[in-house]
Amino acid sequence: MRHIISPLDFSVEELDELMDTANDIEKHPEKYANVCNRKKLATLFYEPSTRTRLSLETAMLNLGGQVIGFASSNASSAAKGESVADTIRMISCYADIAAIRHPKEGAALVAAMNSSIPVINAGDGGHQHPTQTLTDLLTIRSLKGRLENLTVGLCGDLKFGRTVHSLINALVRYPGIRFVLISPTELRIPSYIRENVLDANHIEYEEVEILEDAMPKLDILYMTRVQRERFFSEDEYLRLKDIYVLDGAKMELAKEDMLVMHPLPRVNEISVEVDKDPRAGYFKQVQYGVYIRMALIMKLLEVEVC
Ligand code: CP
Repeated sequence: MRHIISPLDFSVEELDELMDTANDIEKHPEKYANVCNRKKLATLFYEPSTRTRLSLETAMLNLGGQVIGFASSNASSAAKGESVADTIRMISCYADIAAIRHPKEGAALVAAMNSSIPVINAGDGGHQHPTQTLTDLLTIRSLKGRLENLTVGLCGDLKFGRTVHSLINALVRYPGIRFVLISPTELRIPSYIRENVLDANHIEYEEVEILEDAMPKLDILYMTRVQRERFFSEDEYLRLKDIYVLDGAKMELAKEDMLVMHPLPRVNEISVEVDKDPRAGYFKQVQYGVYIRMALIMKLLEVEVC
C-alpha cells in the first residue's frame, strides 16, 4: 500500500507515468468512467479548501467512485478532541482511500502511519502540498512541452507557501532547472529548503526582491498568495499582503511565451486584466488538477484500465 505525503514519494519515472495517464484521461475520459466502481474516497479537511477538495471529489466521481467526508474540523469529531490517528482508523473502515488537509505540519504523515488505506496529503500546514505539485508538473509539461531547462520564478510568500516548497522539491530532480526566488526578506524561502534542497542538489538560484528585475529572464512565473492564516501578526500581514501585484505593465517585461501559474486562490497578487493574456495558465492549471488526481487515485488504488 502506498501513500503520497511528499512529491518525492514517487520517482521521476512514476511521475512521468502519472502524467501520461492524466494526458490520456484528458483525451479519452470515457475509458476511465467506471474504473473505480464501488470504491470510496474520504476527504478529511480540517482547513478551508475549494480546489483541492472539490477536484479530488470530482476525480473520484469521474472514475465512477463515491465520496464521503467533512469540509471543516468543526463538522467532525475533531471538535470534540478526536485525534487524527483515531479518525483515520475509523475512516479506514468506511473508505478505500483518504485525502487529508490539516493546519499542522506532519498531520498527513501521522494519518498514513495509522491508516490501513492509502492516504493523500492534501496540504499539511506550511510544509507540503504534493497533489498541487503533480498539478503544476502536468501543467508545465503540457503547456511548455518539457520539465527540463527552465528558469522558474517563484514570487510572493516563499516562507509559508507549501505549494512552493513542494514544487522546488519536485523540480530539482529535472536537469537544467534554475530558480529566481522573488520575495521580501520577511518571506524568504526557509533555510532548510535553501540548504537541504537547493544547495544540496547544486541548483542554480538567485534571491531578488523586485519582480520587475526578474521578469525578462523567466520561462515560468509562479505567483503565490501571502498566507494570512500562517502569520503571527495581523499588522505584519497587512504590511506585506500587496507587496507584489502582477499586472499588464509588468507582463510587458516578460518573454512572449512565459507561462504564468498560480495555485489559487488569488487575492490581489494577479490583476484580473492578466486573465485574458494568453500566457495566463492558472485556470488551465485547475483543469489539469482533476486529470492528475484521477491518475493518482487510480495508481494508489492499483486500478488498471482494461
Ligand atoms: N490550490 C489550493 O490548494 O487551493 P485550495 O486551498 O482551494 O484547495
